[in-house]
Amino acid sequence: MLIVNIKGLVQVREPGNHVLAGDAMATLPVLPDAYLAIKDGIIADYGSMSSLLVRHATQTLDATGRFVFPSFVDSHTHLVFAASREEEFVMKIKGATYADIAAKGGGILNSARRLQQMTEDELFERTLTRAHEIVRTGTGAVEIKSGYGLTVRDELKMLRVARRIGRETPLTVKTTFLGAHAVPKDTTQKEYIDLVIHDMIPAVAAEQLADYIDVFCEQGFFTAEETERIVEAGKQHGMCPRIHANQLHRSGGVQVGVKTKAVSVDHLENMGDEEIEALQNSGVMPTALPGAAFFLNLPFPPARQMLQAGLPLAIASDYNPGSAPSGNMPLMISLACIKMKLTPEEAINAATLNTAAALELHTTHGSITRGKVANVFITHPIPSVAHVPYAFGSPVVQDVILNGKTISN
Ligand code: NIG
Ligand code: FE
Repeated sequence: MLIVNIKGLVQVREPGNHVLAGDAMATLPVLPDAYLAIKDGIIADYGSMSSLLVRHATQTLDATGRFVFPSFVDSHTHLVFAASREEEFVMKIKGATYADIAAKGGGILNSARRLQQMTEDELFERTLTRAHEIVRTGTGAVEIKSGYGLTVRDELKMLRVARRIGRETPLTVKTTFLGAHAVPKDTTQKEYIDLVIHDMIPAVAAEQLADYIDVFCEQGFFTAEETERIVEAGKQHGMCPRIHANQLHRSGGVQVGVKTKAVSVDHLENMGDEEIEALQNSGVMPTALPGAAFFLNLPFPPARQMLQAGLPLAIASDYNPGSAPSGNMPLMISLACIKMKLTPEEAINAATLNTAAALELHTTHGSITRGKVANVFITHPIPSVAHVPYAFGSPVVQDVILNGKTISN
């Protein structure tokens, strides 16, 4: 396939390791008046239209007035869930906090009850609808967590659904075991942690259902010490940590992430100087989830301060029924610009190259690079790259190509 007359080809990079940190995040390479050649599902070539020799492409797509982006990599979602939670949304409007709702058996436990009652096939169908939804808004690779099962049977069920999404949709999927998301009712903290460590982790590993292990490190959920024990047990079974850290409090989650060599620490609404210092030169990807901060009316991560300290920053959606019921990555980029004062260039880098790094997909995804997977989207006709975050909530994606194939709407 050949895409021609592209107004701007966005995030063009030579092969190499492109985790972007600090000032480097401000630069987003855009090749104007360009073409892109795709062969066998891979980016074969690109260049400016003036250098395009006559080619015999089986399919040519005219992108006049439109930009071509690498597909977003969404490195944090809870895409597998049974049902939405509008009733809690209304409770929050009327003044209840996330913690109030959780304490009344709502929140994660509410989602777990509903998921436990659902068959694997039904759960798959519901997740498939969401998978198609995020494809249409420009996502090409996604991380999917468990954590609404909370029993061995139901955690495995969730992860099987997540793996099946990877097999049966064009999305590239990485999976994460998040058994330690909340402690079920009628179970002690100790009993549940034992179940996670001694039963769930080995069962998940035996079926090779998870690439990563996650813990909700938060007051009222799991302490930093418990988080460390759980992720160390996961590491013994080949699952690298990524951690829900510092969402509601300075929980110590960031420090545990650094200590256990997590691939990422996510949320970061409550950060101090110590956390920023701990992340410096750690190799851990700090990941902001602006949709969750927005939906829960929380402070946003101190992105500017983090970049000034030379840190990298990734942006993901956290798509889930409780704190972020949207997987719309263009909207996440808008929120990052508006609420975290990132420039469009910084936000786009954070949601492509840096999220690819956070999923260890940096050699195959996240940029327009010869040899990478041909995952791109083509915008509607728009005046500039900055229009994508500017036109918040408006549809910007017109055509989607994943693995070199056009996805019909
Ligand atoms: O990332 N914080 C923990 N987990 C999810 C929310 C889970 C829920 O409320 O269902 C999150 O925000
Ligand atoms: Fe989350």
